[in-house]
Amino acid sequence: MQYGYFDDDAREYVITRPDTPYPWINYLGSEDFYGLFSNTSGGYCFYRDARLLRLIRYRYNNVPTDSGGRYFYIRDSGDIWTPSWMPMKSALDRYECRHGMGYSRISSARNGLAFSQTSFVPLKDNCEIHKIVLANESKADKDVDVFSFIEFCLWNANDDMTNFQRNFSIGEVEVEAGGARIYHKTEYRERRNHYALWAVNVPVAGFDTDRQTFLGLYNGFDHPDAVFAGKANNSIASGWAPIGSHHIKAHLKPGESKSLVFVLGYCENPDDQKWEPSAEPGGRGSPPVKPGVINKAPANALLDKYGSPEAADRVLAALKDYWDALLSRFSVQAEDKRMARMAGVWNQYQCMVTFNMSRSASYFESGIGRGMGFRDSNQDLLGFVHLVPERARARILDIAATQFPDGSAYHQYQPLTKRGNNEVGSGFNDDPLWLICGVAAYIKETGDFGILDEKVPFDNKEELADSLFIHLKRSFDYTVKHTGPHGLPLIGRADWNDCLNLNCFSKTPGESFQTTANFESGIAESVLIAAIFVFNGPDYIEICRRTRRAEEAVYAAKAVASMIETIKAHGWDGNWFLRAYDAYGHKIGSHECEDGQIYIESNGFAVMAEIGLDDGRAQKALDSVKDKLDTKYGIVLQQPAYKEYHLELGEVSSYPPGYKENAGIFCHNNPWVTIAETKLGRGTRAFETYTKICPAYREDDSDLRRLEPYVYAQMVAGKDAPRFGEAKNSWLTGTAAWTFVSISQYILGVRPVFDGLLIDPCIPSGMKGFTVIRHFQSAVYRIAVDNSAGVEKGVKSVTLDGKPLDGAVLPALGDGKTHEVNVVMG
Ligand code: GLC
Ligand code: GLC
Repeated sequence: MQYGYFDDDAREYVITRPDTPYPWINYLGSEDFYGLFSNTSGGYCFYRDARLLRLIRYRYNNVPTDSGGRYFYIRDSGDIWTPSWMPMKSALDRYECRHGMGYSRISSARNGLAFSQTSFVPLKDNCEIHKIVLANESKADKDVDVFSFIEFCLWNANDDMTNFQRNFSIGEVEVEAGGARIYHKTEYRERRNHYALWAVNVPVAGFDTDRQTFLGLYNGFDHPDAVFAGKANNSIASGWAPIGSHHIKAHLKPGESKSLVFVLGYCENPDDQKWEPSAEPGGRGSPPVKPGVINKAPANALLDKYGSPEAADRVLAALKDYWDALLSRFSVQAEDKRMARMAGVWNQYQCMVTFNMSRSASYFESGIGRGMGFRDSNQDLLGFVHLVPERARARILDIAATQFPDGSAYHQYQPLTKRGNNEVGSGFNDDPLWLICGVAAYIKETGDFGILDEKVPFDNKEELADSLFIHLKRSFDYTVKHTGPHGLPLIGRADWNDCLNLNCFSKTPGESFQTTANFESGIAESVLIAAIFVFNGPDYIEICRRTRRAEEAVYAAKAVASMIETIKAHGWDGNWFLRAYDAYGHKIGSHECEDGQIYIESNGFAVMAEIGLDDGRAQKALDSVKDKLDTKYGIVLQQPAYKEYHLELGEVSSYPPGYKENAGIFCHNNPWVTIAETKLGRGTRAFETYTKICPAYREDDSDLRRLEPYVYAQMVAGKDAPRFGEAKNSWLTGTAAWTFVSISQYILGVRPVFDGLLIDPCIPSGMKGFTVIRHFQSAVYRIAVDNSAGVEKGVKSVTLDGKPLDGAVLPALGDGKTHEVNVVMG
């Protein structure tokens, strides 16, 4: 069953009933200020760091699910309802939620009163705007009361959920303009220099800032006393739970409508301007200030800017222009609408979100636990770099600065401080290689070899700074220098698979599998890291060559060649690639094992790295993957699933069979197989692996899949799970970047290389053609591919602006013009 549809012209997903099988969310915000926004107006927002600077409270694990957000209660001649459906679950005559690029709009109606809420974060300011329009569609006059409601978070979301002995005494607010402007200033009296603003642009009849007064101590959000009484109490919070609620009265004639603009903003003052200046004598300090009264200057500036519906409309239009420009950088026209809309719009949108959030804040990631991942953020670049290359560049330098001088890396770093996270530490031995991967993608996209000369600190210490190239070299050497008994790379705490913890040996409940090392074997090895090394090797070698580091190139080529030999000698199981060796030197991912005989990652990556293309192993490996791991919803991570906990394997065997890394369909690595299939030229199979995990192809299966049909999920339950086919962890997953790479660069085959844009499609023989419009280094290429020959791979001819091209690499013309490219497959 479907719960909505794609509106491709508007680039919106339109949800047509509020009771989706899980909250279907959107992200508001582009750079520093973000909101998570569900189809019933649930969620929260934060400034830069979802843990430390959260503006409104959100309860994970709540019942009912997704309660809390930005709510509006309507009282229409005594009839009380919530137009976003939640929290009252009101019966609505109409309901629709449109999630667009950086904005959402909920429209509903009841008893002749129409309501719409358009919510977004402006491009340059740190606030959410909620524009409300009320329209009287009935034949009689209406007296309508609107009550807004948000609940403030006391900034640090972790403390907010735990430290009640303090929290219940510290909440403070200020109120101005008769209650139209509410300021949340908890802890401003001491070390904070920021407060939150919740304001509306019209006069109000009253307000509330104390939760208990507004709701009633024993009520839920679905029964606020103030709304049922029809009157706000003008309460001033003192400790407990500060909220913001405005009471607005509106008289509407038949056909009349009224707009209200609400601003939920983050305001910061320089330390020496924290307090409101005092004109009167008796103010404290010099210059004199009003003690305890916050300086409203930044709030006033926001409200001056966004105080009218017209202003709100203008910034929304600017946001749309911004996304038009971004998505024009890669778009697809094809008969297959689902592929075209995913590749051209939603997949790229998700890549932007993963770039911004890493794995921090979603409806599955609490915003508290994880910072930016070294490995994750590097991979996220792959799907993002074509959108805003300058931001990718800055990100690369941030990430590289958290690398240690020996090439290893902090596994995570904090977005606010950009410092490595000591609690998680390092020792994930795949981490260093992803830096080469990210930087190579950036250089191919931009041609900016200059980035290699940037001086970048190690371990954030300026005195240890060296060029970015040296960072890459340390990454490369780290793998070379840390090999085990078979000459394969040591796995450390884990490789890409966070849950393959071969030195952990944890018996203590709750102990982190990633940071515990009870048995540092110095023996456990990873075939996957070896394959990642071989995959990135050619790019590293090419970078050396092109920057006149001939000797280094020769050294690197030898190291890569020798790793290929090692994989062939010790990483091959007869019909597929092995996965690893454990701390005792036993094989993992071998037919000799009882469970976990074959894994997807090493097979996908080895073939992506072109290992075994020359001797039939590549094809054998992928045939084995298809035979043993494929399901109708995608390829599972390994088979057979682990039935019991294995001390020597760690978290991978901790999950019930079919979930997560224990034989779940871990979508992130499915596109590795897709890309690998294109290396074999098997376009039909490549496309099949692409569509199986692509959410748009499962839109009418939403009851089973449950999550948003417009974004990828990290995991779909595998065939061993009771809920086979059910998705979890939508939005923040490396699946976004890798599927975009697989469809754009390897299936449609428009791939940045060091010399330009290579055209190398690998598609189902039944696909008759397609057009890709691609911005690349300041020129635009309109690439029309003709496959009337019905092949899966192979380019017979390419013309550029009507002239035959030698080969299939479009040069970077950099002239700002649009160029016509015609490609004939055959
Ligand atoms: C999660 C992590 C990622 C890891 C993957 C597999 O997606 O964010 O770093 O590679 O799980 O364990
Ligand atoms: C990854 C894995 C998850 C594991 C986590 C630990 O995200 O997907 O299974 O629990 O890493 O950090």
